[in-house]
Amino acid sequence: MRGLNTFESFMAVINRASNDPRKADAIIATGDLVQDETRQGYERFRDAIGALNAPVHCIPGNHDSPRIMAETLSQPPFHFCGTHIYGGWRLIMLNSAVRWDDAGRLEATQLKILESALEKHPDAHILVGLHHHPLPTGSRWLDGLGLRNSDEFLDIIDRYPNMRGVAWGHVHQASETLRNGVLMLSTPSTGSQFLPDSDVFMMDSRPPAYRWIDLHSDGSIETEVVWLS
Ligand SMILES: [Fe+2]
Repeated sequence: MRGLNTFESFMAVINRASNDPRKADAIIATGDLVQDETRQGYERFRDAIGALNAPVHCIPGNHDSPRIMAETLSQPPFHFCGTHIYGGWRLIMLNSAVRWDDAGRLEATQLKILESALEKHPDAHILVGLHHHPLPTGSRWLDGLGLRNSDEFLDIIDRYPNMRGVAWGHVHQASETLRNGVLMLSTPSTGSQFLPDSDVFMMDSRPPAYRWIDLHSDGSIETEVVWLS
C-alpha cells in the first residue's frame, strides 16, 4: 500500500503488543482489516491476532467484505459487531459500513442497539466502537468520508450520562477529544498514516501504531497511543 507492506507493519504491531507487559483483556479492531477482501486475508488476520490470546471484537470498514468478515471472524475468541460485557462496562460494536461507499452511516437498527443499551443499563459504563469518524477531523477531503448521520449518533449519546467513550479507525491519525464528558478517540493505522489538518489527501511519515484503552470501574478512561518508532 503506497510503498508499505501492510502485512509486515501489522505483524510488527502484533509483535509489539504481545511484548507489552500489560496484558490486553480484549482487542478492538475497528475495520479496514483486509483491503483485498479475500477469505485468505481474513484468515491471515485471524491467525496473526489470535496469537494475542484475547477476545477480538471486529467491525467492518469501507475496505472490508462484511460477509467474509462475518464468516471468518464470528467464532470465539472473535466477535463480529454486537454488545459485550466487561465488568461494569458494556462494549457496543456498531456497523457503520455502507457497501460501495467510503463514507459511513449507522442504520436505524444500529442506532437502536446503541440506544437500547444506554437506556436499559443506566448503571453500566458504555464504550462504543465504530469505523467512521463521528466528529470532523479538520481535513476537508477526509471529512467528506465520515459518518454521514453523525448528528443522529451524537444526539443519542448526548442524552445518556452513562455514555463514556467512542473509538474509531478510518482516519489514520490519533486524536482525543472530551465532548460533553465523553472521550472521543481516533486511533492510527497499523499501516501508514494520513497527515492531520490537510485539506487534500497527504500521507504522514508517522509509524504504525495501536492504542491502549484502560476502562476503570468508576467509568473513567485512561488511554495512550503506542507508536512503533
Ligand atoms: Fe476506512
